[in-house]
Amino acid sequence: MIRPTETTFSLVLLLVLLLYCSLSHSLIQFNTVTGRIHDDQQETTSWRFRNLSSVPEGLDVRLRELDLSNNVIRHINSQSLGLPSLLRLDLSYNQLEIISEGAFRDVAQLQELNLARNALSHNVDSNSRALGSLHRLRRLDISMNGLDDDAAELYLRDKSILERLDLTGNGLTRLTPKLFAESLSVTSVRIENNLITAIEEGTFEPLKELKILNLARNNLVYICDFKLYQVKLLNLSRNSIEFFVTREDGHPYELEILDLSFNNLLYFPMVPKTNRLRYLHLQSNMVGTLETDTLISEADSLYRELTSEDEVNDAAANSNIYSNWRLMPLVYMDLSSNHFRSLPVETLSHLTSLVTLNLSKNCLQDISYNTTKGGSGHDGGYHRPSLTFPSLRYLDLQNNGLRQLSTFFLEALPNIETLNLKENSVRPCDPKDQLGPSETTRVSLNSMSSCVSFWNIKTLRSLDLQDNGIKTLHQNTFERTPLVSLNLASNVDIILDNGALEGLQSSLQSLSISGNNMTTSALSLPCLKALRRLNMSNNNVDVVPSIISCSPLTELDVRNNGLTSMNESLVDRLSLDLDVLYVSGNSFNCCDTKWLKALNREKVKIPDLDRAVCLSVNGTLLTGLLPNHSLHCSLELSPKITEPNLGQIIIIILFVSIVLITLVVFVKKVCCNTGSFIV
Ligand SMILES: *[C@@H]1O[C@H](CO)[C@@H](O)[C@H](O)[C@H]1NC(C)=O
Ligand SMILES: *[C@@H]1O[C@H](CO)[C@@H](O)[C@H](O)[C@H]1NC(C)=O
Ligand SMILES: *[C@@H]1O[C@H](CO)[C@@H](O)[C@H](O)[C@H]1NC(C)=O
Ligand SMILES: *[C@@H]1O[C@H](CO)[C@@H](O)[C@H](O)[C@H]1NC(C)=O
Ligand SMILES: *[C@@H]1O[C@H](CO)[C@@H](O)[C@H](O)[C@H]1NC(C)=O
Ligand SMILES: *[C@@H]1O[C@H](CO)[C@@H](O)[C@H](O)[C@H]1NC(C)=O
Ligand SMILES: *[C@@H]1O[C@H](CO)[C@@H](O)[C@H](O)[C@H]1NC(C)=O
Ligand SMILES: *[C@@H]1O[C@H](CO)[C@@H](O)[C@H](O)[C@H]1NC(C)=O
Ligand SMILES: *[C@@H]1O[C@H](CO)[C@@H](O)[C@H](O)[C@H]1NC(C)=O
Repeated sequence: MIRPTETTFSLVLLLVLLLYCSLSHSLIQFNTVTGRIHDDQQETTSWRFRNLSSVPEGLDVRLRELDLSNNVIRHINSQSLGLPSLLRLDLSYNQLEIISEGAFRDVAQLQELNLARNALSHNVDSNSRALGSLHRLRRLDISMNGLDDDAAELYLRDKSILERLDLTGNGLTRLTPKLFAESLSVTSVRIENNLITAIEEGTFEPLKELKILNLARNNLVYICDFKLYQVKLLNLSRNSIEFFVTREDGHPYELEILDLSFNNLLYFPMVPKTNRLRYLHLQSNMVGTLETDTLISEADSLYRELTSEDEVNDAAANSNIYSNWRLMPLVYMDLSSNHFRSLPVETLSHLTSLVTLNLSKNCLQDISYNTTKGGSGHDGGYHRPSLTFPSLRYLDLQNNGLRQLSTFFLEALPNIETLNLKENSVRPCDPKDQLGPSETTRVSLNSMSSCVSFWNIKTLRSLDLQDNGIKTLHQNTFERTPLVSLNLASNVDIILDNGALEGLQSSLQSLSISGNNMTTSALSLPCLKALRRLNMSNNNVDVVPSIISCSPLTELDVRNNGLTSMNESLVDRLSLDLDVLYVSGNSFNCCDTKWLKALNREKVKIPDLDRAVCLSVNGTLLTGLLPNHSLHCSLELSPKITEPNLGQIIIIILFVSIVLITLVVFVKKVCCNTGSFIV
């Protein structure tokens, strides 16, 4: 008879078998189903990098997308592409020079064709006739094909709904109205890196949908009459442009981004009065070579010459060609790597919405911003003409020769957040000299000494003073300036006075004092309760200051100092928050590495531990031994310091146990004896 347990067992077995069968069955079904679906979706095929010399035969007629790029196809004959559903075809990076006339007849739906990097400068007539049958083309890339003006024109025949066109890297020299005459609905045209020296009037004007025009890396020298009302982004970077002039006709322009970087501009571009310009890239030009006054008057007369206007229309006495900047909603201007020796305050202060101004790599020495000619304020005195930069938040002044930024100037930046003064010669003022009874004292003292007052700039959050040759940071230098990030790196031999960082205790999150040749005693930090990142690399510090246990550091860089060890309890405290620690370039003691264990325990990353060196007992520096210290030290050290090993511990435990057992047995015996004695 079968016992109940056996019955249950057999039942369970049966069930499992059944379940398995049904599952595998459904799996098989599932497979066939997905297989079919997969078949259905064979709409995309990639044949890239297959060394193909012709279009493969027998392609699925339902194909919608075909990638044949990076092969060695030279010829497409009229039978090879019978793919009526094809929407996208990529033939870039082949050796295509012959496209038979009917080759594209059976891909009439094609919307995107990429022919970049082929040899389409050959057989232009027949090739272009082949392309002529693609009436639905929206995107065409014929960059890098060695095309000249006439060839490009032929390839653009009959492209009435073309939207995006790429002609980069060809040999176009002169753009004429014929070029786009049959592709009038393009929205984006890229003709970078050609040899264009002239653009005839009427070339782009009829392209009413044109939004993006990229003519970077050509040979244009002037833009005498910019008239493209419709274009939003115009890229003229890396030409040889000396001036950019818009003849004012009151028409509104859509222009939002203008890139004139890497040209030969002497003047600011003369942009249309009514525009939407937000980003102006003028880096690497020669603006600022002329003094501001000369610049403005020369620009004025240039404009008159070109437009043959004798009088500037709205003849307010002190208005000039740049007065209409007041209407410009510019938020970003890059003037880095130009030739400014002084700040063109009057011109720039028209830009009331400017948020970011980059003036790095110029020759600015002094932004004194005292009485300015043309200003509307009083002479002398300390009442300033009301020139301000009300929206400016990011000011990059790195790599100039700046010694001074006057308090007036800093006060004209009511919303400044980030000030980059890296690589200048700025001396922070001693606030003690500034706390005079009245504003007047403060000002006169300030203008006498050439120092910059970083005191009481309530909006400033990030300040970079790296590499300024600063010798002393006085007490309270940053008081009432709630900095979040401060870079004091590469000010060799800087002395931080006691209380130099006073006022930053609860705001500062990132501090660098790297490369200052600082000794431990020169390093007097307060308790910085918000500090997350501290970089004290490249100094002469031999003890990590214990005050940093105040800070919830997540990143600490102590590379290249004179550390031999780290205080264990300090490391214990730090490793609660620490994510990353950099330690290489110190000569740690190979045998004093308890700090390392604490860090390992808390899984703190030490990316450069392999490169860290330690000093062994016999006085040699060893690389890579730090993590293997115990192994190493136990061989070298006298037994007194050596930690007992496992064998010794076991022997001791065994010994103690035997002694204890003997003792217990003995006591028991004695007690029992006593007990029986009583009984
Ligand atoms: C590509 O194909 C040609 C012949 O068609 C052959 O000579 C060549 O070795 C092939 N190259 C590679 C990388 O397979
Ligand atoms: C303009 O073109 C240059 C060169 O290709 C490119 O580096 C730059 O980013 C472009 N500018 C804009 C604003 O897109
Ligand atoms: C300013 O320009 C310099 C040099 O071109 C660049 O390195 C820096 O990142 C720019 N600064 C800003 C805030 O864009
Ligand atoms: C204004 O600044 C110039 C230097 O740019 C200086 O020579 C001149 O003395 C200053 N004027 C006043 C009133 O401080
Ligand atoms: C760094 O400081 C030491 C004294 O602490 C001095 O001897 C050395 O010259 C300094 N190095 C530099 C580069 O200033
Ligand atoms: C610390 O500063 C040095 C010198 O500026 C820099 O090379 C290093 O990357 C910085 N460390 C970290 C963690 O950013
Ligand atoms: C380690 O730091 C703790 C406080 O963080 C301090 O009490 C102790 O004296 C330090 N030990 C050494 C050896 O400096
Ligand atoms: C010092 O010890 C290391 C590691 O044990 C050894 O490789 C090295 O030869 C020793 N150097 C001297 C000078 O004894
Ligand atoms: C240190 O120990 C690890 C394993 O714990 C080993 O892979 C590595 O080779 C050792 N390094 C040296 C320099 O002995």
